[in-house]
Amino acid sequence: MNRLLIAGNWKMNGLRADLGTIRQIAASLSSPAAGPEALLCVPATLLAEASATAAGTALKTGGQTCHSADRGAFTGDLSAEMLAEAGAAYVIVGHSERRTAHGETDAVVAAQAAAALKAGLTPILCLGETLQQRAAGETLSVIRRQLEGSLAGLTDAARLVLAYEPLWAIGTGQVATPGQIAEVHDDIRRFLGERFGGAGNQVRILYGGSLNPGNAAEILVISNVGGGLIGGASLKAADFLAIYRTAGALRV
Ligand code: PGA
Repeated sequence: MNRLLIAGNWKMNGLRADLGTIRQIAASLSSPAAGPEALLCVPATLLAEASATAAGTALKTGGQTCHSADRGAFTGDLSAEMLAEAGAAYVIVGHSERRTAHGETDAVVAAQAAAALKAGLTPILCLGETLQQRAAGETLSVIRRQLEGSLAGLTDAARLVLAYEPLWAIGTGQVATPGQIAEVHDDIRRFLGERFGGAGNQVRILYGGSLNPGNAAEILVISNVGGGLIGGASLKAADFLAIYRTAGALRV
């Protein structure tokens, strides 16, 4: 079984004054070789300094999106290679906030994941249903459709992380129940088996959506949950570290 991945998503939060939080988190983790993996996906402006701060510790850094092209006339965008050069090991792709606010389709997300892999980054590819889709009983079919589209053309599952983030649980304080999480994660695992055979078992499937120190234990223990993608609670060192320690106590 892969190590659990405890990943923070700082979204559009964080100035240089917040590097102290990163320093504090990096200094409090287990040795790089033991315990869960820890990751902070910080704003691109902080990536290089955050990576330098985390160097030599168990903390890794990541970006929050990347463009699918290597370079070119894409004002305001960043290539995966740029993120890698700034020290990123991971990049989030297809977060619902990007899908919704920036119109990123499954095809765009698939191209971003391919670009990330080409640049040596591990993509954390996000999936999730709206409250309306859940109410209509469409959750599993929506996730399957996103998987088909966002993993199109991907032949190697070795360096891939998925994150199930129900849209109605993101930033709302309304966390999905263990039963809801298990149902979706089990179906994602089935999809990965159909698609990649045995290699599909190695793909970590994170849960995201109002994950916090109070609910981490009951979520991270679910069998097909390979870690967490944490927004709000990752902004405070104490909360992020509490979730990290909970993960460490569950699986060593
Ligand atoms: P949240 O965000 O933990 O604040 O709900 C999770 C995410 O959007 O990745």
